Amino acid sequence: MVYIEDIFAEEVLDSRGNPTVKATVILSDGTQESAIVPSGASTGSKEAVELRDGDKDRYDGKGVLKACENVDTILADALVGLSPFNQVEIDTIIKERDATDNYSHIGANAALGVSMAVARASASSLGMPLYKYLGGANAAILPSPMLNIINGGSHADNSVDFQEYMIMPLGFESFERAIQAASEVYHTLKKLIAIDGHSTGLGDEGGFAPNFKNNVEPLEYIVEAIKDSGYEPGKEIAIAMDPASSEFYKDGKYHLKGEDKVLSPVEMVEYYASLVEKFPIVSIEDGLAEDDWGGWKILSDELGDKIQLVGDDIFVTNYKILQEGIDAGIANSILIKLNQIGTVSEAMKTVRLAYRNGYTCVVSHRSGESEDAFIADFAVALNTAQIKTGAPARSERVAKYNRLLTIERELGFGEYIGKTLFK
Ligand code: PGA
Ligand code: ZN
Repeated sequence: MVYIEDIFAEEVLDSRGNPTVKATVILSDGTQESAIVPSGASTGSKEAVELRDGDKDRYDGKGVLKACENVDTILADALVGLSPFNQVEIDTIIKERDATDNYSHIGANAALGVSMAVARASASSLGMPLYKYLGGANAAILPSPMLNIINGGSHADNSVDFQEYMIMPLGFESFERAIQAASEVYHTLKKLIAIDGHSTGLGDEGGFAPNFKNNVEPLEYIVEAIKDSGYEPGKEIAIAMDPASSEFYKDGKYHLKGEDKVLSPVEMVEYYASLVEKFPIVSIEDGLAEDDWGGWKILSDELGDKIQLVGDDIFVTNYKILQEGIDAGIANSILIKLNQIGTVSEAMKTVRLAYRNGYTCVVSHRSGESEDAFIADFAVALNTAQIKTGAPARSERVAKYNRLLTIERELGFGEYIGKTLFK
């Protein structure tokens, strides 16, 4: 019987140069696998707690030595000797050892690092790719990527209020062909931006981050870039947005600094409705703030049967909050970020709840990432059919796309269903 022989963690850096947890699991058959935990910047207030040392002498307080120690002691004590092959059991024990609602005791970074590393070690020990271990013979769909090619909000130092302007290459027969198109549009966009004298510097997720004159101009540039690359906007390549509006919501209003406007929730919904009229937008994430459930209801009633409305900060991958959203008729899709909820099994539980209620799922990276491509396998395993993991640039983003290219080739008969995702 294979059992967990050792578990330990070390502090490494994420893509922003901040410390994060790398957890390693060693099995009795000699298998050794690791996982690196990502970290967000525009976090939802109800996310599982990312434990930081707070010691200002190191990394401005952002060190994760305590979280690593919790892996080495609390989690190792609880899990060494157990079989790694029952992920739900492993994750339940991790949760019990934390004994809080939100991982504020051991840290979600400690919990998730171990949870992912156990899954990866199990797959490796069985000689299976991770997506097959997690999803079995049913793992088949290559996700349509949302590629964030213009960055604003808290991911960039520019005048753009909205955080993410993404392209979705839907009208293609394979993931490989879709990524080719996305990369071509990305490079065309760079040229268009440069010709107009804008900076081609990048934001945290690899998208361009110039000072546009308002929040609509990026959409105009993207449509132009799609056309100039020889593709049809809407039909072959659509647009998705994540305004991450909790970041500019204050006192019941939305403060669009880039346009010198202050909008009520109803006006904000009208603003989005007008964008959806003019541009081939198929998905808007966090269009309204996590505290603005009234506004979310209006948004859902107004646009819910036209486009995908993804809840990120509002649901934080939490099945209890998602259930409240379902009951309230809010959104029709949920963003899935493993570190928002704390373990692999709990994220899977949220995905199952979403599916049962007709909500789509978009597996997502964080703005602070690493070379770890766990989410690529996770998206295929759960057949979510959608993933957002940044621009087709910068290795921490591209690692996920590259992994999906490999998975597609390995599967041979993988399905790319982009065309059928949206009406
Ligand atoms: P974050 O942003 O990783 O900085 O929280 C990503 C998002 O809002 O989707
Ligand atoms: Zn978001």
